[in-house]
Amino acid sequence: MKEFFLAWSTVSMTTKVVRSIAEMQKIAQKLHRKGKTIGFVPTMGYLHLGHLSLVRVAKRYSDVVVVSVFVNPIQFGPQEDFNVYPRDFKRDRMLLSKEGVSYIFYPQARTMYPKGYKTYVEVKELSEKLCGRFRPGHFIGVTTVVAKLFNIVQPDIAVFGQKDAQQAVIIKKMVKDLNFPVKIVVAPTVREKDGLALSSRNVYLTPQERKKALILYQALKTAQSLIKQGNRDPQKILHTMYELINSVPEAKVDYIEIVDLDNLEPVSEIKDKVLIALAVRIGKARLIDNLVVKL
Ligand code: PAF
Repeated sequence: MKEFFLAWSTVSMTTKVVRSIAEMQKIAQKLHRKGKTIGFVPTMGYLHLGHLSLVRVAKRYSDVVVVSVFVNPIQFGPQEDFNVYPRDFKRDRMLLSKEGVSYIFYPQARTMYPKGYKTYVEVKELSEKLCGRFRPGHFIGVTTVVAKLFNIVQPDIAVFGQKDAQQAVIIKKMVKDLNFPVKIVVAPTVREKDGLALSSRNVYLTPQERKKALILYQALKTAQSLIKQGNRDPQKILHTMYELINSVPEAKVDYIEIVDLDNLEPVSEIKDKVLIALAVRIGKARLIDNLVVKL
């Protein structure tokens, strides 16, 4: 126990929690003046190994790592899980200290969206596909908060997870279209040993539902092998995936799609590289997962 507290007090001293936008901007400017590069990982907290893998990637690419912890209210729909979204800042702070993160930007909602807030960033078309069809306004919330965070943290590079494939495509497009001087790095999905993609929302699953949730990755792997065996017809592959997932009565499919990696449009034939993406509700959890399959 004593060792734990010793370790905790040494590491925690080096990780500073910043709650004010002006202070975070001042820190970023000072770091840049000193010639340091900033690597940034935006999160909504309740961190797991997937987030920590993004932090490790950010560390490889930069001198100083900043992580934001902010459950962004404007990316949740009125019927969604904003109020019950899991939060544990103490634990997040300890994990980030152990990873050697220099700054945690941890603002309050009223700091990010003060009374009278009016500006939103929208990446058209891409935001309406896949998850966008089921979560209207979600990606406007994501691009708005990420644009704000980029202006506050002023990173040289920012790391996003492949698990949120559509989010990564949309952020890259926003960065290109709005000329943000930020390099976007997309890091691989981290999975449990049995294949379940790590997600903060996995806490909503009961142990039985968690077992059922394995069908998502199984369906993706089946699609991958069908493609590797020479199948080129997306409709046939999707049919097999629907059959597999629908064989689990607890699983309710929002969508399963095989799309182009750049424009997220469904493909009519499988060539070179495709994104197979799905969203499935199991109990209280809405789970997303995907695989990029290259020929
Ligand atoms: O991926 C997430 O956790 C969120 O969408 C992000 C990028 C932190 C924006 O709130």
